[in-house]
Amino acid sequence: MTDFSAIHTPVLLDDCVALVTPALKRPHSIAVDCTLGLAGHTIAFLRNAPEATVIGIDRDSEALALATERVTQEGLADRFIPVHAAFDEFSRVLDERNIRSVQAVFMDLGLSSLQIDETDRGFSYSHDAPLDMRMDISQPLTAAEILRTYSQQDLEAIFKLYGEERFSRNIARAIVQSRDSDPIVTSAQLNALVDRVIPKAHRASGNPAKRVFQALRIEVNGELDKLASTLPQIANRLSVGGRLVVESYHSLEDKTVKTFMNQGLKADVPADMPVIPEDMKPFFKEITRGALKADAAEIEHNPRSASVRLRGVELIRPIPQRWRTRFDEPYVPLRQQRGASHQRGRSAHSARKGRK
Ligand SMILES: C[S@@+](CC[C@H](N)C(=O)[O-])C[C@H]1O[C@@H](n2cnc3c(N)ncnc32)[C@H](O)[C@@H]1O
Repeated sequence: MTDFSAIHTPVLLDDCVALVTPALKRPHSIAVDCTLGLAGHTIAFLRNAPEATVIGIDRDSEALALATERVTQEGLADRFIPVHAAFDEFSRVLDERNIRSVQAVFMDLGLSSLQIDETDRGFSYSHDAPLDMRMDISQPLTAAEILRTYSQQDLEAIFKLYGEERFSRNIARAIVQSRDSDPIVTSAQLNALVDRVIPKAHRASGNPAKRVFQALRIEVNGELDKLASTLPQIANRLSVGGRLVVESYHSLEDKTVKTFMNQGLKADVPADMPVIPEDMKPFFKEITRGALKADAAEIEHNPRSASVRLRGVELIRPIPQRWRTRFDEPYVPLRQQRGASHQRGRSAHSARKGRK
C-alpha cells in the first residue's frame, strides 16, 4: 500500500481545517478543493465535516489518480468527486454538475512534492531533465518552447516579474544569443547558462538558477492568470456563510489573493459618507488576521511551508449585482496586459505598434 503521507506533507493542515470546515456543517454541504494534489487537505476536510462532499480538482492526471486511490483507501470515496480540470474552469465544473453554489473553496497553490520530486518533468534545477515543466502534460507549451520562441524582452519580463531576478536582462540576452547554435532544452544547459551569466560576487545563497526555473514554471502553467481569473468565479458561486481559503507560496500569488479579497472587505463608498447603503457594505469578512504563516517547528519538519501565506474570507451578504457583473467579465491575461509579443525577435513595444 502506498504511503501517501511520505510523498507530500500538507501545509498548515490544522489551520486550514479550522478555517474551512465551519462552513460545512449543514447536510449536503459542498466544498471544492481546487488543488487536490495528493488529497492531504481534502481527506482532513472530509473527516472533519461528515455531512460534506468534496469536489477535488487537479490538472495533473497522475495526482488525481493517486488522490482518488488514497481517498478510497480511507473509506471516504462516497463523498468525493475527482475532476480533471484546471481550476480556472471552476464555473464550468459546477455547471456540468448542476451545482449553483458551494459552501467552501480551498486552494493550496503551486506544485506538490510529488511533482517537484519527479525528475523527468524538468521542474527541478537539481536534476538534469528535458525542460518541460507542464503540470498538465496535455497542454502544448513547454519551458523549452518558451526559451526557443519568446522575444528577448518577453524572456526578460517573465524572469523579472515572476522570478524577481536581478540579472533577468543578461540571462534573456544570453539565451537569445545562444539559441540558434545551442538551443536550451535541458535543465543542465539552463543551469550552466545562468551560472555563466550571473557574476559570482552577486549571488545569493542556493542555486543561482532557482528564480529562473520558478519564473518559467509560472509562465508555462499560466499560474497567475489562472489564479486571477478563478477568484471572481469562486466569489460568484459562494453561498452566504461560505468560505474561501487560499495558501500561496509566491509573493505575486499572495498579492493577487489579497487584492481580490480586499475588494469585498471594504465599504465601496468614500470614507466620509455618513450612511453606507446596504449594497455598498463589505461582503467579505476576514477569517484570518492578515496572512497566517507556518511556525518554526513546521518549517523545520516541512521546508516547503517556509513561504506559505494563508488567507481566508467568509461571504457575509449576497454579492451586490455590480460586483457580480464585474466578476463575470472576461479576464484579460497578464501577457496581453503587458503587451507581449512572445514572438521571436519582436519586442513587445514593436508588436504593439505593429512593426517588425
Ligand atoms: C501544493 S499541491 C496540493 C497538495 C494538497 N493540498 C495535498 O495536501 O495533498 C498543488 C496541486 O495543485 C495542482 N494545480 C496547480 N495549479 C492548478 C490549476 N491551475 N488547476 C488545477 N490544479 C492545479 C497541482 O497539479 C498540484 O497537484
